[in-house]
Amino acid sequence: MPSIRVLTGITTSGTPHLGNYVGAIRPAIAASRTSGVESFYFLADYHALIKIDEPARIQRSTLEIAATWIAAGLDPERVTFYRQSDIPEIPELTWFLTCVCGKGLLNRAHAYKASVDKNNAANLDPDADVTAGLFMYPVLMAADILMFNAHRVPVGRDQIQHIEMARDMAASFNHRYGEHFVLPEADIEETVATLPGLDGRKMSKSYDNTIPLFAPREQLKKLIAGIKTDSRAPGEPKDTEGSALFQIYQAFATPDETVALRQAYADGIAWAEAKQVLFERIDHEIAPMRETYEALMRHPERLEDLLRAGAAKARAIATPFTAKLRHAVGLRDLRAQDGGKQAKAAKVALPSFKQYRESDGQFYFKFVDAQGRLLLQSAGYASPKDAGQAIRALQQDAGALAGLQLAPAEGASREDIAHALQLLRDAA
Ligand code: TRP
Repeated sequence: MPSIRVLTGITTSGTPHLGNYVGAIRPAIAASRTSGVESFYFLADYHALIKIDEPARIQRSTLEIAATWIAAGLDPERVTFYRQSDIPEIPELTWFLTCVCGKGLLNRAHAYKASVDKNNAANLDPDADVTAGLFMYPVLMAADILMFNAHRVPVGRDQIQHIEMARDMAASFNHRYGEHFVLPEADIEETVATLPGLDGRKMSKSYDNTIPLFAPREQLKKLIAGIKTDSRAPGEPKDTEGSALFQIYQAFATPDETVALRQAYADGIAWAEAKQVLFERIDHEIAPMRETYEALMRHPERLEDLLRAGAAKARAIATPFTAKLRHAVGLRDLRAQDGGKQAKAAKVALPSFKQYRESDGQFYFKFVDAQGRLLLQSAGYASPKDAGQAIRALQQDAGALAGLQLAPAEGASREDIAHALQLLRDAA
């Protein structure tokens, strides 16, 4: 079975804080380790340009976020971890989608509407200070998702509308040009807590109440000391209900540790002591990652290399897929008239699958390119039906290779296989 593709983007517009870690980074990394999923994580730096016009901040945030994800345990061998702006196919797809996206759909986007409402309330021109970038944001996001035909997109609730819009654009494109895109679904984590910040409201950059995930130990301690509490004295029983300190602790502690702190609250633990307990607990989880983080921040070239390798992996999918989309919309080689039908009439050689049975009684297939070069050699299947199924899975999606436990033949690459499959589809 072809695996499920999961994709999510992180806008490079800030410094990761504990709320990001608990709410997004930690669950995403855990999910990336489950089998049967192919994960794509990317730094959404084109998106950051919508909000930020300070180049140094964009660069700094990109570095910090890349270092954070790696330090927190994301395995770039296992997932595809890349920087959006390294994939030139994404802005190209953005344009294709722009041309099938109703303007009215974008008029209804929450983020755009909120800006317009604010201007109207202030008696300004409705579009005052609204860039076309903000207006087009949902199209860029749709391109991020559809480029990799992601099935599931883990996002916060505020992003659900964007996923629905991506489905809409995918459906419009498919309707006009044939089935090219999977319709993605939002994946909302119901179980993870939203972390309160220093003032008890949701931890968020816009409230300026955050604790940076990799604040140095001393700063972490100071920030935790500043978490808002009530004025109950040492010895007085304390309420866990509504206690930001308790909620943050819970996001890091085991159930047993949580029970113990609950008891300590009832027994009248002093706030200063409770803060010390929280500090030690968080530092215990963060300290080893912080060390990796700091080392990576001292060696940006390691992250740069890693992101470039990730981009190469992503483009092995994006480049052939974009070639197919260009052809679908009519951006074609002028020598191949009538959509390549002429070439077919002339019986130009094509890549092909060859099925056969060996003396061991098993059924095999190989895949050869137009010149007869071996691209793929299967292992034995019990029945011709099984071999046929594997071939069909590949014909649909070169990404099925891993799931079928097939590797390119010597001297061939995944890209060669994807390219040959594409030629076959184009000729069909
Ligand atoms: N817009 C998302 C956010 O602000 C980030 C993002 C950009 C994204 N492209 C994406 C998330 C594609 C998921 C899929 O959180």
